[in-house]
Amino acid sequence: MKLYLGVDIGSSITKAVAVEDGVIVGFTSITTMDPIAAASGAVGKLLAEHRYRLEDIVSIAVTGGGARFLKVRELFGIPLVLVDEVEAIGLGGIALTGKGRALVVSMGTGTAMVVVEDYGRSIRHIGGTGVGGGTLLGLGRLLLNKHSVEVLENLAERGDPSRVDLTVFDIAGGPVGVVPGEATASNFGKISDEARDEDIAAALFNLIGQVVGVLAVFASKAYGMERDIVAVGKLASSKLIVKAMKSVASIFGVEIYFPDNGGYCTALGAAYKLARR
Ligand SMILES: Nc1ncnc2c1ncn2[C@@H]1O[C@H](COP(=O)(O)OP(=O)(O)OP(=O)(O)O)[C@@H](O)[C@H]1O
Ligand SMILES: [Mg+2]
Repeated sequence: MKLYLGVDIGSSITKAVAVEDGVIVGFTSITTMDPIAAASGAVGKLLAEHRYRLEDIVSIAVTGGGARFLKVRELFGIPLVLVDEVEAIGLGGIALTGKGRALVVSMGTGTAMVVVEDYGRSIRHIGGTGVGGGTLLGLGRLLLNKHSVEVLENLAERGDPSRVDLTVFDIAGGPVGVVPGEATASNFGKISDEARDEDIAAALFNLIGQVVGVLAVFASKAYGMERDIVAVGKLASSKLIVKAMKSVASIFGVEIYFPDNGGYCTALGAAYKLARR
């Protein structure tokens, strides 16, 4: 057995994957803390859960915002290799989808966009937005005193965002140009005392999914990637975020792909970089 591990020390969550012959064979995640504790914790958990032996591991790729604070060159006696996060996101996006080119929208605590061309020979960070998973949790706490995505999503599933969001129909009485009447004209623009917590939660998922969705669509048009948008990151596993992004994309006639295991994209890309050397 010849395993490459990828560890992504994200702002919120540290992810670890094991890759054998170019495919993910195991993954796990833990809350991010001190970078060495996070990296060794995630690798230790991966080894324990999958019963890998240390001698099966060739090397460990580390990436993510926390990786630059790692001052060690080995973990459990296995060499560590630092991989640039943008490169890891890009390689992960094509590894998860089998595509040769992609606009990878990494939806973590914040949102980063990476353009990959020529099967990963060109990988560029084109920008992003501070609206992301951290925004969902921060506003969820402020507005609803709820502290997890699961709890917020349960609440939101029972809510009606049209009691909070002003629609194009509300303003114009029908569609405007390419934009249908049911599209949002103003997120939270119709909030009133009648809005329930469930409705506010639903509108919060809408706000974030729509901002990221519109940005992804416009970026895809600017870079000729309309058929290649790939959304990853832990936030991209939220059903309501996916729903909001897909409906935005459909307005503009593009499609957004949500590959399985998107939360592990960056960790996978880091491992993939070592494995394909
Ligand atoms: N069960 C869940 N389903 C969907 N989203 C979740 C869930 N739990 C947490 N999240 C969201 O995922 C976000 C973290 O995503 P991710 O782990 O991809 O980010 P990160 O790598 O830690 O951050 P960054 O890449 O921005 O440094 C949290 O901010 C939260 O909003
Ligand atoms: Mg991340």
